Amino acid sequence: MSKTALIISASSDIASATARLLAEKKYSITLTSRNIQSCADLSKEITNISSNICFTISLDVRDVTSFDDFFLNLKDTPELVLFCAGKMESDELISSKNRGYFSQEIKDIVDTNFTGPIIFLSKLKDYLVKKDKQTSIIILSSVAGDRGRSKNPFYGSSKAGLSSFSSSIRQELGKSKISVITIKPGFVRTKMTKNLNLPKFLTSSPEQIAKIIYRAHKKKKNVVYSKFWFLIMIVIKSIPEFIFKKLNF
Ligand SMILES: NC(=O)c1ccc[n+]([C@@H]2O[C@H](COP(=O)([O-])OP(=O)(O)OC[C@H]3O[C@@H](n4cnc5c(N)ncnc54)[C@H](OP(=O)(O)O)[C@@H]3O)[C@@H](O)[C@H]2O)c1
Repeated sequence: MSKTALIISASSDIASATARLLAEKKYSITLTSRNIQSCADLSKEITNISSNICFTISLDVRDVTSFDDFFLNLKDTPELVLFCAGKMESDELISSKNRGYFSQEIKDIVDTNFTGPIIFLSKLKDYLVKKDKQTSIIILSSVAGDRGRSKNPFYGSSKAGLSSFSSSIRQELGKSKISVITIKPGFVRTKMTKNLNLPKFLTSSPEQIAKIIYRAHKKKKNVVYSKFWFLIMIVIKSIPEFIFKKLNF
């Protein structure tokens, strides 16, 4: 029997690179997206690489009322679940002197990065515990959640909440067959960061992150950073608040 994976928000560049890698490893894959048309090409590509049929399911992670049906209709119990949904602030919101004016966008960021994910992950956990199968739940959080900065307050704080929630379910499931893995990439060259000027030596490709994700699954890791970001975040977290508040990065 082939190994199975469930990839949430497969239109993400990191998700699709991981899907390709898993297809090469002969996984049978289910992709979700809020617009499944956007995954049609990827789905065909995966079927060609793996020779397994690739299923696609529509899922908007803000639509918490759809989650029960989602799990009822899931065909196979996955042994790897990758959760990739994420939303960053728009340039208009970040450059605005009236950030509070963007209340709908702020709510959307929190619903996409935190509220939707923690409800989805809670239901996923209940579903997997009943199935009693060896599974990795791999959650894409961010180094932005490790210390709040003025440049991404809503993205950063919602990812901080997601990282904290990941830690909670990792502890809850610590003695079970389920591994909960938090991935905290630094910069990655994707649609999300296309407008940012990223330093090359600190920036990963989606394919590099896909390899990190696969290795973390195989080794049942807990929290994983990319490149030098673990050390960078130790330094950033150790800066005293009275100095940190005067910095502009
Ligand atoms: N790129 C980086 O530097 C970086 C660094 C650290 C962490 N991350 C995290 O890595 C993950 C993947 O991001 P990426 O870099 O691959 O960027 P991306 O290509 O822009 O992917 C973002 C994904 O989130 C999905 N999404 C947004 N709102 C959604 C919703 N309401 N319901 C379902 N899916 C939704 C998008 O779907 P649509 O195509 O439908 O919009 C897209 O698939 C994100 O969680 C991100 O926060 C990225």
